[in-house]
Amino acid sequence: MDSEPQFFDQPGGYVGQPLVRVDGREKVTGKAKYSAEFPLPGLTYGVLATSPIAKGKIQRIDTSAAAREPGVIAVLTHQNLPKLAKTPNDPQGKKDIGAPMGFLPLTSDEIFYAAQPVAIVVADTLDHALHAATLVKVTYQAAQPIASFLDPKAELFDPQKVQDGKQDGHTRRGDAKGALASSAIQLTATYNHPVYNHNPMEPGSTTAHWEAPDRLTVYESTQGVTRTQSALTAMLGIPREQIRVVTKYLGGGFGCKGSCWPHTILTIQAAKAVNRPVQLMLTRKQQFTSMGHREDQTQTVQLGATADGKITSIVHTKTSTTSPWDNYAESNSKILDMLYATPNFEATYQLARANVMTSTFMRAPGEAPGSFAIECSMDDLAYRIGVDPIEIRLRNHADHDYSTNKPWSSKSLKQCYARGAELFGWSKRNPRPGVTRDGRYLVGMGMASASYPVHNSQGTARARLYADGHAVVQSGATDLGTGTYTVITQVAADALGLPPEKIRFELGDTNLPTAPNSGGSVAAGTVSSSVYMAAQDVWQKLIKVAVVDKKSPLFKAKPEDVTVEKGRLQLKKDPSKGERFADLMKRAEMTDVEGMGQGKYGSGYETGRSGSPAGPNNNTDTAGEHSMHSFGAHFCEVRVDMDLGTIRVSKWVSVMGAGRILNAQTARSQIIGGAIFGIGSALMEETIRDPHFSRYTNADLANYHVPVNADIPDMTVEFVEENDPFINAMGVKGIGEISMVGVAAAVANAVYHATGKRLRDLPLTPDKVM
Ligand code: MOS
Repeated sequence: MDSEPQFFDQPGGYVGQPLVRVDGREKVTGKAKYSAEFPLPGLTYGVLATSPIAKGKIQRIDTSAAAREPGVIAVLTHQNLPKLAKTPNDPQGKKDIGAPMGFLPLTSDEIFYAAQPVAIVVADTLDHALHAATLVKVTYQAAQPIASFLDPKAELFDPQKVQDGKQDGHTRRGDAKGALASSAIQLTATYNHPVYNHNPMEPGSTTAHWEAPDRLTVYESTQGVTRTQSALTAMLGIPREQIRVVTKYLGGGFGCKGSCWPHTILTIQAAKAVNRPVQLMLTRKQQFTSMGHREDQTQTVQLGATADGKITSIVHTKTSTTSPWDNYAESNSKILDMLYATPNFEATYQLARANVMTSTFMRAPGEAPGSFAIECSMDDLAYRIGVDPIEIRLRNHADHDYSTNKPWSSKSLKQCYARGAELFGWSKRNPRPGVTRDGRYLVGMGMASASYPVHNSQGTARARLYADGHAVVQSGATDLGTGTYTVITQVAADALGLPPEKIRFELGDTNLPTAPNSGGSVAAGTVSSSVYMAAQDVWQKLIKVAVVDKKSPLFKAKPEDVTVEKGRLQLKKDPSKGERFADLMKRAEMTDVEGMGQGKYGSGYETGRSGSPAGPNNNTDTAGEHSMHSFGAHFCEVRVDMDLGTIRVSKWVSVMGAGRILNAQTARSQIIGGAIFGIGSALMEETIRDPHFSRYTNADLANYHVPVNADIPDMTVEFVEENDPFINAMGVKGIGEISMVGVAAAVANAVYHATGKRLRDLPLTPDKVM
């Protein structure tokens, strides 16, 4: 095969086309089955009863009233739930399980956080279970909880390392404090962030079915069937092969479905106890207290610069709330370290334990809040020296990654600024803040840079090509709703030379070849390259058949001289010599041929320019030579009503350089969705934790505000064409998270431009504007 991927540059290829979602019809007709929609024979319904106190002990638990209710099958508490082989509470347990939290409820009488489950009620109907759960009587010995790092009783500590599953800890390059002290310009700003909750339309849900005492199938609302299977293997102590995790459809996740949370294993143990399948779907209220959240945090950025606005130093600190057991903090500093040409850099984290569950990754973990801090501070710098916000960013453009001292694999940030400014009409902007009016509204225009890393990841896929011209392609990935089914169908169509309707792509099942979590923006890149490689394996097998087949035009050709073009095997040097795979297979009496592929993605597996992305093992000679990131720019116009304090986003443009775009339509939707997610974080989303009781006071969608259509203008999205040969066989960087990076800053920068008021406490609610 050629050393470069060759299918995707063909005119008429399906990759990149705005193919309508292949699962759209299933979804809108209600045929798509989500994890709480499997009506198994004998199905029962589980409901969690939870603690109103955030700290203390269960003194007495009386389940008799609940148990007497009609239809109730069992009421399970820490006293009678079947024991697990291992829990996150055990030494090493959290690590062995890969649990997001070092504590599992219903293992003791201790209460550590509000809404901690204290019982699981199983009944014949959901109504019966919901009602009975209210009848579980618990007497608590309550203690005074700590609600956050702001609590005067909270003790701040240096965690040395914070956990986001990938990295990290303190960072130090050069002499940041020294350089800051001697800088002509020194800016210090503090940014405050509330708790945010993931609110996927589909709350966390589990249907647990023990088919035999040691054989389990779980329909689970998870971003990763394999990671869930691994966690269950460790906790249940039964072999991996005997646990099947299925996730055919997901109604969103945003990171909260990236790990195996307590309700899943509690449902499985309840199913064991009642010896019937149990289905549990978190209530919307429980969604706020069962699958993590983005932690409340404060960040301070000290920025040193020369008189003409060149950054000399950044000193960044973050303080945030964590749980009684874990040292989790999303690592905000990474983006401050790499986004601009910063010769000196230092970042430190502080944590405080409080009576909350452990926070977790939420769309663009670290980059989302980190970008708010750096991108608002960059605007401060622009105004301080009187240059345009784009110009200050160009002056500090990083031609290589200062955090690793490596060249970029590709970077189109300057094109994103230029194209975004053009689409937005940035040149019409009056540089002076607080002076542009439209009737009663102050009008402001702001922008911000965006970036997200390409994380290392690998996965596998199987492709089975049939002589009759259809194919079944499989990879145990998940589709958050963002379009995995669709984009991988397009990749398979091009790679196998078939129209998309002749491809069936199956995902979301641990019985399929292993794929990584749909998280960290890795799914599209990893799964597309896995499928591409699986198709190459198919062709290699067919080429071997062709060259020994006397009736083939390719008889006696050397396999390496044969290539495949849209399903036709042909000589590289003389494409007229060749045949369609179907002709070859029929003559050889093959009904089908199967290929396996392993897709590797990220700098740890990078493919050199002269490397061989088409081989089963990517060239690792150049591994780690490049820093891999997507980049982009968001542009925002706001209209601010100073009498009412309301901010309305009236125009939006996002331009992204993110490698190969697999589907113009789903990619556009993905960026729009992420930008709306970011606008929500900027203007309205906030989970309020009562400072005395450490309880959430607005755990529902009536009081936790997310943007609706009326809050959002028409949005313009464009992608800069980018051909990155180092990422993987497909050159896909992934767009799940970059869509929301920098968004809140673009909004806040527009508000500053409109009003002359710099708001640094999210969300920017009317009380802060007036
Ligand atoms: Mo995403 S927050 O990496 O699931």
